[in-house]
Amino acid sequence: IFAAVEMAPRDPILGLNEAYNADTRATKVNLGVGVYYDDNGKIPLLAAVKTAERTRLETMPPRGYQPIEGPAAYDQAVQKLLFGADSELLAAGRVVTAQALGGTGALKIGADFLKRLNPAAKVYISDPSWENHRALFESAGFEVENYPYYDAETRGVNFAGMKSFLQGLPAGSIIVLHACCHNPTGADLSDAQWVEVVEVCREKGLVPFLDMAYQGFADGIDADAVAVRLFSTSGLQFFVSSSFSKSFSLYGERVGALSVVTASKEESARVLSQLKRVIRTNYSNPPIHGGAVVAAVLSNPELRQLWEDELAGMRDRIRAMRTGLVEQLKAKGVAQDFSFVAAQRGMFSYTGLSAAQVETLKNDFGIYAVSTGRICLAALNSGNIGYVAESIAQVVKG
Ligand code: LMR
Repeated sequence: IFAAVEMAPRDPILGLNEAYNADTRATKVNLGVGVYYDDNGKIPLLAAVKTAERTRLETMPPRGYQPIEGPAAYDQAVQKLLFGADSELLAAGRVVTAQALGGTGALKIGADFLKRLNPAAKVYISDPSWENHRALFESAGFEVENYPYYDAETRGVNFAGMKSFLQGLPAGSIIVLHACCHNPTGADLSDAQWVEVVEVCREKGLVPFLDMAYQGFADGIDADAVAVRLFSTSGLQFFVSSSFSKSFSLYGERVGALSVVTASKEESARVLSQLKRVIRTNYSNPPIHGGAVVAAVLSNPELRQLWEDELAGMRDRIRAMRTGLVEQLKAKGVAQDFSFVAAQRGMFSYTGLSAAQVETLKNDFGIYAVSTGRICLAALNSGNIGYVAESIAQVVKG
């Protein structure tokens, strides 16, 4: 039965981990996957998480099945973080949230539900977008196309192009938007541009699907939720996938959520019933541990403050690495202006390095990046930034 099975290509992002792990060079650096490492090159276990885990383990809780949509305490904590504790939508019962297996799992639940709802709709993702967006929506059965987004000349957003493209789409089109810290470019919309995007979605009857995997990595918890909050006050119905992989450093625990904003409480009940069907037929119900830890941290004022401080620490360290890289490239005699790296937001920089240059970085220096030229700044540290800058300098100088 497997005789005709073809070898699939490695995943463009996670496949880099496999190649990196197999590399025996001591100087190797993994700038591929979007993971935050501390200044010692380790994935941190946050103090807030450690405390919540200890408390939880002490009580030795039983491990029964969870509700299909996850526990209410977790779902409500997610909602407050995304929509704000005093959100009118929450008070009106217009948000349905289901725990999901990371942000990817949330996208998949949303995609499967949307496919049942509107099988003929097309999905539009930014050009470029996170590699898995296209594959994920295609695997749910959708045709996926790009909308204009990144402007390589300005290293910013081609907003006029994006807006006029969205204005030309048929009603019911599904628009995947990066709510903050655009992956892979680090180029975000301004608040004023978000207002215009909301308006286009309303005018044209588009279905917004906001992907929020990096809340807290640009400016802060509430500041990074501006797109979600603007859609919230628009009266529209929309989807939000969110993740605690990065913000809680809980990657392998797979902790995320899908939130759907409906028109009414009664509609919410019907939507939830359908999301539960999608979940039940995929993996039945979510695992306990990661979600319980997140809910415990978010519901305890002291732990919450500790987490916010730790998140701010990660954000600040990434910023320092951005400016550090710009300075070091300059100091190494690179004529090309890399100052845009300091202006980009979130974990990534879209460096403009070509696929061939990325290949040279890997082969000659053991530095791994995504072939599109995306690097993860959160993997730089005081020990490797000089080596990375020197290697990039050699590659760009040819
Ligand atoms: C990334 O873009 O590197 C992260 O979101 C990890 C992943 O799942 O691809």
